[in-house]
Amino acid sequence: MSWTIISGSTSGIGLATAELLASRALPLILLGRRQERLEEIQKKLQSQTKVEIFAFDLRDRGQIKNFLEVAKPLLSTTHNLINNAGLARGVDSFQESDLEDIDEMIETNVNGLLHLTRGVLPFLIENKKGHIINLGSVAGRVVYPKGAVYCATKYAVRAFSDGLRMDLLGTPIRVTNIEPGMVNTEFSEVRLRSKSKADQVYAGMTPLTAKDIAETILWCLERPAHVNIQELVIYPTDQASVGQVYRR
Ligand SMILES: NC(=O)c1ccc[n+]([C@@H]2O[C@H](COP(=O)([O-])OP(=O)(O)OC[C@H]3O[C@@H](n4cnc5c(N)ncnc54)[C@H](OP(=O)(O)O)[C@@H]3O)[C@@H](O)[C@H]2O)c1
Repeated sequence: MSWTIISGSTSGIGLATAELLASRALPLILLGRRQERLEEIQKKLQSQTKVEIFAFDLRDRGQIKNFLEVAKPLLSTTHNLINNAGLARGVDSFQESDLEDIDEMIETNVNGLLHLTRGVLPFLIENKKGHIINLGSVAGRVVYPKGAVYCATKYAVRAFSDGLRMDLLGTPIRVTNIEPGMVNTEFSEVRLRSKSKADQVYAGMTPLTAKDIAETILWCLERPAHVNIQELVIYPTDQASVGQVYRR
């Protein structure tokens, strides 16, 4: 058995990755907060592969600890960790931003990712096999106005990915940072707290789909063990850079 953990698997990129990996019969440990969605996904995918689900909030250190305890028997044969859960909240200048939004981004995108990785990594090292795939963003390479905190979290993911690769040198563990541009998922709806405003983000252009990113993740996983795709930047053809979007 070779388990793959996917955080944030209840929607968007995480869900598409779960669906794609399930179609290859890869056993999955799916994480997210929305228990009902996790149950539906488990029901749907378990005809193709083994699926275990754990609903908890990555901002809660105690809940991560509990997951690591309960899932211990699975972790001893876990080889892949896809750190996908994350979010942006609000499009505000920093001086006008909400402290709750700031904390939610830092606690999820940075602390949650670090704590989960710190908990799972010893098992990968012990197993002498492992691949950690982090979902960074082009926001981790280019800062844009009214995105200071979200960009800061994704710069952190990028720096962490680079540093972790150095710390793991000499082990067989690979670390990949995937950095997409605009992907049409629940991301903008969560950020703007409005479905209609979210639809406007993609108006007149063709964004990436969650499946595009899932296929990229699978491609990275499938490279031979001596090949580590360190980072990948993926934009839609209609987006040249952050803020430069062609609309028909
Ligand atoms: N969409 C884009 O344009 C884009 C571009 C670049 C990078 N990304 C990155 O890609 C990753 C996936 O985003 P997405 O586009 O697929 O967005 P999404 O559809 O909103 O999915 C985000 C996932 O993260 C989970 N999540 C959020 N907060 C959580 C928490 N506190 N604890 C546990 N799980 C949490 C959500 O699950 P629950 O709500 O069930 O917890 C959900 O499954 C994120 O890291 C995002 O920053 C997205």
